[in-house]
Amino acid sequence: MYNSTLHQQINSILPRSGFDINGKDNLFYARFIANADAIHALYKNLYAVNKKNNDSFKQLLQIILDAYINRSTALKQKDKLKDEHWFLSNEITGMSLYVDRFSDNLSTLGNKLGYVKNLGVNLLHLMPVFQSPKDESDGGYAVSDFRKVDERFGSLEDLKNLQEKMSDENMHLMIDIVLNHTSHKHAWAEKAKQGDKKYHHYYYMYGDRQVPDEFEKNMPEIFPEGAPRSFTYVPDCDKWVMTVFHNYQWDLNYANPQVLLEMLDNIFFYANLGVDILRIDAPAFIWKQIGTTCQNLPQAHTILCLIKQCVLVATPGMALLGEAIVAPAAIIKYFGTGEYTAKECDVAYNATQMALQWDALATGNIKIMLAAQHEILKKPFGTTWISYTRCHDDIGLGYDDYMIEQSGFNAYAHRKFLKEYYSGTYYSSPAKGALFSVNPKTQDARISGSLASLCGLEKAIEENNEHDIEISIQKILMMQAHSFFIGGIPMLFYGDEVGYTNDYSYLNEEGKSYDSRWMHRPMIDWEKNIRSETDETIEQKIFSSTKKLISIRKKLAVVADHKNLIWLTPHNIHVAGYLRNGEKQNLYCLFNFSDQPAFLTWYAFKEHGNVPERIYDHWREQYFSVGKDNEHLILEPYAFYLFEA
Ligand code: GLC
Repeated sequence: MYNSTLHQQINSILPRSGFDINGKDNLFYARFIANADAIHALYKNLYAVNKKNNDSFKQLLQIILDAYINRSTALKQKDKLKDEHWFLSNEITGMSLYVDRFSDNLSTLGNKLGYVKNLGVNLLHLMPVFQSPKDESDGGYAVSDFRKVDERFGSLEDLKNLQEKMSDENMHLMIDIVLNHTSHKHAWAEKAKQGDKKYHHYYYMYGDRQVPDEFEKNMPEIFPEGAPRSFTYVPDCDKWVMTVFHNYQWDLNYANPQVLLEMLDNIFFYANLGVDILRIDAPAFIWKQIGTTCQNLPQAHTILCLIKQCVLVATPGMALLGEAIVAPAAIIKYFGTGEYTAKECDVAYNATQMALQWDALATGNIKIMLAAQHEILKKPFGTTWISYTRCHDDIGLGYDDYMIEQSGFNAYAHRKFLKEYYSGTYYSSPAKGALFSVNPKTQDARISGSLASLCGLEKAIEENNEHDIEISIQKILMMQAHSFFIGGIPMLFYGDEVGYTNDYSYLNEEGKSYDSRWMHRPMIDWEKNIRSETDETIEQKIFSSTKKLISIRKKLAVVADHKNLIWLTPHNIHVAGYLRNGEKQNLYCLFNFSDQPAFLTWYAFKEHGNVPERIYDHWREQYFSVGKDNEHLILEPYAFYLFEA
């Protein structure tokens, strides 16, 4: 809604010279006036306006204006050219990597762009590169300076150069903003420790256990093994500090508007580095309230909506990814609800589907996968998923118990089976992984392990079993294919393109040995990766097939995420089948999750309209004749098909 007071307020802060309302700055000015009322309403919702908060709202307007003014002409130009929904494109494929473990540092990473581009990757998610204490870093997610690149990786200049190089090569850049907490070594935390009142209010700090005890009554533990409870006693200042994750990660207090303003300013700092997708780390946790789990609270959504509106005004080319790894019904809400539907996060991790793929691979049965789809398919138009099989984190079996029960299994026994299967203790399991963050009270646990090891490659290599090596490669490719075509931006995890198995060296490293997630964060050995150029090596088989999958995806416009998919009726519970339907193109994607051949009636294809007599499988590059209803397509174990009709 138009708000004349805000209009005047904005006019009053515009720069006296150099700002051209009727010319080059007109679009920004229009966006600012048009969104000001929404921004104000969201702000008021969080911080009922009193005199002091009125001042901080003025600061907020100034931060937005400064962000725009500091944006380079090149980025402003890019903002103009970018289609509003550019991130739905089927032409984007991402890879997530640790700069130091992949290529040493930011400047040498520039020399590796050829390698990732050859694979078909044109979006890089750099794991956190900002300053973070070496042995208390949580892989970079404990930031001690949001604006200084850690020396381990190089300098801010190196990051800027890399961004420019990537931009010249039409590649997109994704980095994190760690919104929920800072390192205990951050200047704010240091000042708070020294008793500075202002910074004390940036965190949740208490002189005794009374409030912490109240909070902890309802707060689940995130790392029950390595970092139990949600508060840490800090002797330096004789205070209990909220630390939901590790004890060196201090939770920021967003009930203090100053915290939001500082972090918004950091968000714009990243936007103006040329970031295309900003990964908002752990947004589910950013608002805390006694008596709740302190996760997914309505105010957390209000903050995200507010950030989105501000970004839309000043740096509209940057999309927001919410890393909410929560229950299926809760994830969907990060796309926005009510009047903010599709106006909160543009992208979210499809953590539910990721975990369900692993479920189906272990059981050979897709019932639970289907039982969860009614939630996943609520994704609104204009938003998309990060679609993935593995990332730097563990696999959490985050889907609901009722979905398991509905499929005819006992939830407790089923989860127990999956944990045993992937940690390799189940008698017939070929997987090699480990449990992560076992909760001694509930026995809840997540799973660590690389894509290849969880698919059986590590064991097969150890046993020198050629047959099992081939089967595990087939599983790896089926898992990747399933996630590449299901909708959303495929995000590979570095190393998976050549089948890195678990690396157990973390067990001997200080600052890592307590965290089994390090087993699937490889140190790249370029001699191994180069084997992807030699025929018949494991690396070549996985690399070339992954590359082929990416190139097929780029050719098929129907895979762009403009529309949610349609699941095929499960005529065979071992076969996951979905239809990507467009105006001119239909793509039937089929995946046999079982270790046995599976028979699928040709009728399955016909339930969704006419199917031509012959359909083309992009994977095998071959036509198939569609059989009669009583005839079957026979899928080999772990086979997949990408049929265009
Ligand atoms: C996110 C990151 C994870 C980290 C946590 C705390 O979930 O992906 O690696 O441990 O946030 O920052």
